[in-house]
Amino acid sequence: MSRRLLVTGGAGFIGSNFVHHVLEHTDDHLTVLDKLTYAGNRASLDGLPANRFRFVQGDITDRNLVDELFADADAVVHYAAESHNDNSLDNPRPFLDTNIVGTYTLLEAARKHDRRFHHISTDEVYGDLELDDPQRFTESTPYDPSSPYSATKAGSDLLVRAWVRSFGVRATISNCSNNYGPYQHVEKFIPRQITNVIRGIRPKLYGSGENVRDWIHADDHSSAVLTILDKGAIGETYLIGADGEKNNREVVELILELMGQPGDTYDHVTDRAGHDLRYAIDSTKLRSELGWSPAYRDFRAGLEATIRWYRDNESWWAGTKDGVEAFYAAKGQ
Ligand code: NAD
Ligand code: DAU
Repeated sequence: MSRRLLVTGGAGFIGSNFVHHVLEHTDDHLTVLDKLTYAGNRASLDGLPANRFRFVQGDITDRNLVDELFADADAVVHYAAESHNDNSLDNPRPFLDTNIVGTYTLLEAARKHDRRFHHISTDEVYGDLELDDPQRFTESTPYDPSSPYSATKAGSDLLVRAWVRSFGVRATISNCSNNYGPYQHVEKFIPRQITNVIRGIRPKLYGSGENVRDWIHADDHSSAVLTILDKGAIGETYLIGADGEKNNREVVELILELMGQPGDTYDHVTDRAGHDLRYAIDSTKLRSELGWSPAYRDFRAGLEATIRWYRDNESWWAGTKDGVEAFYAAKGQ
């Protein structure tokens, strides 16, 4: 049956991948609510069918607008956030406004209109792991966020849990690992290095490059979220991951190889303050209880397709590249 879905942050990286995925795999109708901050790009949603898709520019902290849009929706998927750790170290304030007050505003509307609500969160709420720790994050790992970004995401998760328990809001939460794929802002690690190579700039590795991230293709994140929306139990948290652990040095070397460059043509730059060492997700609950599994199992092939996308879509990112590099250069990164 066709639903009316409200998607916050649908002009961002993962939200826009979700919109494309839903239009392709369901009959649902979508409304995107997005403020179009520096991270949102309307072009990521160009050419979508007008009979199933509508775009509303606005802020998730705008109570009246949120109220109006919730009245018209069957379910809400909440991606909107300030999402970049480096920015949160420079100026945490927008992270508090959007990630905390924004989520609060949406929860109040979900409560008032009794709407199914799915909250998108991150594995970073669990802090980090030692490189040799045999454990991975599970749904019962204690919260221990490190950065202003991850602290606000942790706060937003706890608000969702409180609104479920105190007010009976029909919500679920997912915490996903690092995504890669098309439409990711060039401030982030993988697109930054790909576009650096295209521009003839050497890739930049923070610190030693030993830090590990657990990579998942954005399309697999989308299929997992749809699965939770359809089959998830109210009040539950599901971790999303695809067994994709790699250290940053390996990723840069693979990008260089796939782009036909010598494997050592990158720079080590100033490390990120408080840099989390390793994230790793155990997604057994999602796989065994809801029957989800990832489709993208070959990181090399997924990365190759992502590189092709950035080569083929230079107009999508060209306007932001110089500003991002100037921001990093000022910090020695
Ligand atoms: P992004 O920065 O690419 O996109 C965020 C979007 O939210 C942008 O389109 C922006 O315009 C919009 N937005 C920001 N503030 C807003 C506001 N006040 N009102 C309305 N819209 C607003 O982020 P992303 O990487 O796509 O992340 C999306 C969500 O997924 C976030 O909640 C993030 O915490 C979570 N997440 C991201 C990853 C990852 O690897 N990128 C992994 C796990 C979870
Ligand atoms: O784990 C999920 C999180 O993944 C999400 O919650 C965040 O929204 C998302 O931005 C991402 O956070 P990270 O901080 O892991 O991603 P980022 O792309 O900024 O960096 C990935 C790794 O690469 C990290 O160890 C820092 C490093 N890095 C990053 C940049 C931009 C570099 O070595 N060089 C760089 O130029």
